[in-house]
Amino acid sequence: MNVGEAASAPPAAVAARIAALRDQLSHHLYRYHVLDDPEIGDADYDRLFAELQALEAQWPQAVTPDSPTQRVGAAPAVDFAPVAHRVPMLSLNNAFDDADATAFDRRVREALGVETVAYAVEPKFDGLAVSLLYVDGVFVEGATRGDGTTGENVTANLRTVAAIPLRLAGDALPRRLEVRGEVLMLRADFDALNAAQDARGDKRFANPRNAAAGALRQLDARVTAARRLTFFAYGLGEIDGGDVPHATHSARMAWLAERRLPVARDRAVVTGVDGLLRWYREIGARRATLPYDIDGVVYKVDDLAAQARLGFVSRAPRFAIAHKYPPQEAETRVRAIDVQVGRTGALTPVARLDPVFVGGVTVTNATLHNEDEVRRKDVRVGDTVVVRRAGDVIPEVVAVRMEHRPDAAPLFTMPATCPVCQSAVARGEDEAASRCTGGLYCSAQRKQALLHFASRRALDIEGLGEKLVDQLVDGGHVRTLADLFTLDAATLGGLERMAAKSAANLHAAIDHAKQTTLARLVHGLGIRNVGEATARDLARHFGSLDALMAAPVEQLAEVPDVGPVVAASLRAFFDEPHNVEVIDALRAAGVHWPEGPPAPRPATSEPAAGAARDPVIGRTFVLTGTLATLTRDAAKARIEAAGGKVTGSVSKRTDYVVAGEAAGTKLETARTLGIAVIDSEAALLALLDRAGSAAPGALPA
Ligand code: IVH
Repeated sequence: MNVGEAASAPPAAVAARIAALRDQLSHHLYRYHVLDDPEIGDADYDRLFAELQALEAQWPQAVTPDSPTQRVGAAPAVDFAPVAHRVPMLSLNNAFDDADATAFDRRVREALGVETVAYAVEPKFDGLAVSLLYVDGVFVEGATRGDGTTGENVTANLRTVAAIPLRLAGDALPRRLEVRGEVLMLRADFDALNAAQDARGDKRFANPRNAAAGALRQLDARVTAARRLTFFAYGLGEIDGGDVPHATHSARMAWLAERRLPVARDRAVVTGVDGLLRWYREIGARRATLPYDIDGVVYKVDDLAAQARLGFVSRAPRFAIAHKYPPQEAETRVRAIDVQVGRTGALTPVARLDPVFVGGVTVTNATLHNEDEVRRKDVRVGDTVVVRRAGDVIPEVVAVRMEHRPDAAPLFTMPATCPVCQSAVARGEDEAASRCTGGLYCSAQRKQALLHFASRRALDIEGLGEKLVDQLVDGGHVRTLADLFTLDAATLGGLERMAAKSAANLHAAIDHAKQTTLARLVHGLGIRNVGEATARDLARHFGSLDALMAAPVEQLAEVPDVGPVVAASLRAFFDEPHNVEVIDALRAAGVHWPEGPPAPRPATSEPAAGAARDPVIGRTFVLTGTLATLTRDAAKARIEAAGGKVTGSVSKRTDYVVAGEAAGTKLETARTLGIAVIDSEAALLALLDRAGSAAPGALPA
């Protein structure tokens, strides 16, 4: 770097380029983190970012606080300074049932002297309230709620939250504008964080709210950045030196969205108590599938003048109320701690509980994950514990109420032998899991291996569920994966609660599953450390099973994303004569798949002009209508697992519209824009199986 340049302002052309890069980067962050609809890939984003960083390094005088490069970088703080809230941050009163909500509406109508009231309705985010101060549109200070009057300055941490704009879009902004909202962690980010904690042998976080709270109060903003928080605005605090020109709360929310602040997509204006209760039930029904935790919905009188007339009682507004849902955490008692054996022999301690209603279902079992986790939480039989069930995830024990522990509660220890087959239990040095060493001798592992083999994403044998597998294994009908294909209809018909018709259907499904793909087969074999994506990479790389089975470790490690651990797992699997026998038997039973020459893997970034683009990886899908068997979420998960992206709306950047039954206007838009339409689940799955093939002409007509 030239020192002379460092002290001076950049030439006009450079300054213009810097400004353009900042605009573009902010735009793409917004598309990605707020709209969930990115226009460019990560590699392109990184390129723009690197260019801006380089220019700013050369011209430090040009660095501004709202530059996207300035999100992380502040030195760790010694402490959080206090911030006085000029407009206090209040809390909401709660409604716990329909009667409370009805009474709220009556009080509001009576106080306003009107027949019906229009309400703005929103989710009640289960995160942490923060206040963001924008001066002349630039984010300058962020604070926690604290006691409502004084909070803590967490500006450096909030700058790392990608959904928070460092500069508001649009002009004619008030000189000082305070945005109020909730910082939270999406469930997917929370699950990833806990998986990483497991891998490091660190303690799991109890719930997304705790994880978000911990991240927000990190003295080192780099830690906050790594924890991936997000933000939703739900109101305004101080407005000074200008106006926010609106008469209703809902118009303000729309205005905030135009300023590029994230606001809940699920918001509406409803009238009367009927509208409120309908909204409560609608969001309640969708609660488990929302990407974040909510603990209720919020009703706000929409008209701001009416809000002002209603005013406040003590610390809460009269014009708004939170209508709560049943909690996702509840207390209950541990009756026993059992140990379950998984497919790879991993032993999972499971708490058997007094039945408790939590997260919308009655829970009787909760996972304790592994031995270390039981130790860290010190869960014992007889303990009163907090159980959490959010979304569709497996219920888990998050904490023990030590004050209720009975005397002489025994400490949990992992058994030394497998509870199912009595083989020795072993635990690798760096592993969290203890494992049964019985392999396929262990009937529990055999059952899990069969279920995995038959699962949707492997051989996809419809109708082969847990109860049947239990009977097939316990009855001695099936010992290996290959035995499935030699079962006759009479044997199936002889199973408990198996009508002739179901037996015939299952027989047909098994027969149908014989025609498969190499990727599905390799995935279905259940080789340790080889998941679906790796199986696909291996199938693509080697083309044939024989080539894969014969490959030495060095060749296996040439496959992208296959490291020494995965390569060693593969080698160990194929070196085991029993496994080779099973594979031979599968072939002999008629299981077959197309094979081809080994194919090079395509680059994940944009290919050079003229090169064939991958039919799935990096492509954008939009889902509309109902698919034959897959839910929206399941279809999305499959597309993402295959390397595609799913967005909400059709634009000219959409590659495919997947149209199920009763597809709506998105299908029409697709036709108008000439976008490829995938008109069945089968066609979608067939396309996803081609991920990574990068064959020319891979797009369907
Ligand atoms: S409005 C005057 N809207 O709930 C109070 N709050 O007990 C203004 N919260 O501390 C709050 N989602 O952290 C409002 N859509 C929403 C909300 C929401 C979550 C939190 C907020 C507040 C607490 C109120």
